[in-house]
Amino acid sequence: MREGSTAVVSAKVLIPQVQSLARERVDALLGRIWQHRVGLVVAPAGSGKSTLLAGFASSANVPVAWYRAESWDAKTSTLLSHLQSAFTAALGPIPNGWDSVETAARALETWPGRRALLVIDDLHTLEDSPAELTLERLIDYAPPTITFLIGSRALPGFNLSRLRVSGSLLEIGSEDLRFRSWEVERLFRDFYRAPLPPEELAELARRTEGWAAGLQLFHLATRGKSPPERRRILTALGSRSRLTREYLTRNVLDQLPADLRWFLVRTCVLTRLTGPICDAFLARSASQQVLEE
Ligand SMILES: Nc1ncnc2c1ncn2[C@@H]1O[C@H](COP(=O)(O)OP(=O)(O)OP(=O)(O)O)[C@@H](O)[C@H]1O
Ligand SMILES: [Mg+2]
Repeated sequence: MREGSTAVVSAKVLIPQVQSLARERVDALLGRIWQHRVGLVVAPAGSGKSTLLAGFASSANVPVAWYRAESWDAKTSTLLSHLQSAFTAALGPIPNGWDSVETAARALETWPGRRALLVIDDLHTLEDSPAELTLERLIDYAPPTITFLIGSRALPGFNLSRLRVSGSLLEIGSEDLRFRSWEVERLFRDFYRAPLPPEELAELARRTEGWAAGLQLFHLATRGKSPPERRRILTALGSRSRLTREYLTRNVLDQLPADLRWFLVRTCVLTRLTGPICDAFLARSASQQVLEE
């Protein structure tokens, strides 16, 4: 899509259909959102944020507007056109032409319902953008019927302390999302239908630190393999940090433009990155510009 375009990508305003293991412990934490204005789920890549939000959104008994942000949605107008589309799909006909936070808030005020939820996933992609500021103002201006639920790899740049002190913020973090050992057991037995013996479960929970993507990677690597083969893979699994590197390579680096990826892969052995050091190391120029990117 053209950078900065306000055209709405409909896939981004649909609740993703996910299959997942229901976790009562985490659902109960998120279930408290109705006592707050904003729910914030902040955790590293692969922690299970989107899975949690999508499951919650599909089973909520209120209308849910869904929007998955992307870095090229940084303009206020792009954010507002996606939110207008998401809310129209969820609430039915409401005034359109959202060109400012005020218009958006007024349109939401005309909705006669009691309660609705707006989920925004991947908010970290809008870090430090005009769209992020616009969202912060919308949280301020939107009628109390609207509850906000945000998924992000990093804390938003909002004034969170104001929301915190007024008790308006529900925070869920990576420690909450981490699979406990009994949840790892249920995941393999009930969800993957590949139960593991207790000693392997304990080892897997320890090595992955309950990180959802690590558990999924292990399952993919061992599916259909014999028990000795599976044990070998478990022993070779390494630590959470190695798993994280592999996951990031697949899911984060792969999405970057080829030249930026080349730059990051070549410079990852350097402990300190400055323009001149990278230029010297790579025998090229203009590294400073890439680093600023
Ligand atoms: N409750 C669950 N049951 C089964 N699988 C799960 C569960 N939670 C997470 N997973 C799996 O773990 C992987 C990572 O989850 P998810 O995509 O939700 O993470 P994320 O925190 O949104 O990551 P990112 O920041 O990269 O978007 C996915 O493959 C997902 O299917
Ligand atoms: Mg996600």
